[in-house]
Amino acid sequence: MKQKKIIINYEEYEDGENLSSKDLQLVIEATNALSGSYAPYSDFHVGAALMFENGGIVRGSNQENAAYPSGMCAERVAIFHAQSENPDAVIISLAITGRADHFISDEPITPCGSCRQVIAEIEKRQNKKIRIIMKGESGVTKIVSGIESLLPMMFHEEKLKKTK
Ligand code: THU
Repeated sequence: MKQKKIIINYEEYEDGENLSSKDLQLVIEATNALSGSYAPYSDFHVGAALMFENGGIVRGSNQENAAYPSGMCAERVAIFHAQSENPDAVIISLAITGRADHFISDEPITPCGSCRQVIAEIEKRQNKKIRIIMKGESGVTKIVSGIESLLPMMFHEEKLKKTK
């Protein structure tokens, strides 16, 4: 038996520390997307915005439902819409932010497990990593350069292929 470890690299920016102009633009778009959030059950609003290689932007926000599992996270609303409208466009980055009605969300909003799996699928499909920018209402911003950092040992389509 061997003990092994996985090291995750990410960038961390203090509140107010300058992001690159493209990252900042996408965070602003994700923040704007919050206005479309429908979250009467959790009172927790999430906004997401993704950028295509050509600079185009698609936004999404969480959409809840009285039958809780029928709702959808902001990231997947944005991603599925982007893919269905532009199946061949390459997504280069995704910003996520959030706002709670009853407290200050001062931790970065990180994608849930299902959204991570969906992001992993796109990276494989387009053969290009997606920069993921995560921010709360205040506090630090964390950035990873691809889904591997958030979903180590991920399941992907190559695992479905028979090797012997
Ligand atoms: N939510 C998202 O939209 N994205 C995430 O990354 C985490 C959670 C939503 C789902 C639900 O509407 C609310 O936040 C509370 O879980």
